[in-house]
Amino acid sequence: MVCLGNICRSPLAEGILKSRLDPNLFYVDSAGTAAYHVGEKPDNRSILTAKRHGIDISNQRARKFIKSDFINFDVIYAMDKENFHDIISLAKDDFQQRKVKLLLNESKLFSNKSVPDPYYGGDDGFEDVYQMLDQACEMIEKKYL
Ligand code: 4NP
Repeated sequence: MVCLGNICRSPLAEGILKSRLDPNLFYVDSAGTAAYHVGEKPDNRSILTAKRHGIDISNQRARKFIKSDFINFDVIYAMDKENFHDIISLAKDDFQQRKVKLLLNESKLFSNKSVPDPYYGGDDGFEDVYQMLDQACEMIEKKYL
């Protein structure tokens, strides 16, 4: 799960998808395309939103997306179109490029949309983001059932 800062959207997405998949079968992680917040905990608003839904993301720490992620992961979900293009530009070939998907394309309701960046908005934005992410993660879960 990849966003810009790896403190708002992708930590939530990581927590949600982890809660929906068997940890013995799936390895889920998140990263940011930018390094501004490397080493930091998720934004408190993401931590609280996850907590309200019974998910603890407080142990996550931000990291930057790196080229070896193309080798270590089968699917790379971008939160928005800018992240999508930034990740694609780091791929070394078609095989790696094809691993990159826009997360909301997994969801019929939000197909081809970006997950809005809630960083500069109010608390409501985080709940809206949670609902979008959860919808997409529900579809991913169903794919692998
Ligand atoms: P995220 O949100 O990409 O969902 O983690 C942001 C976090 C930090 C910044 C921008 C977006 N920032 O500019 O510092």
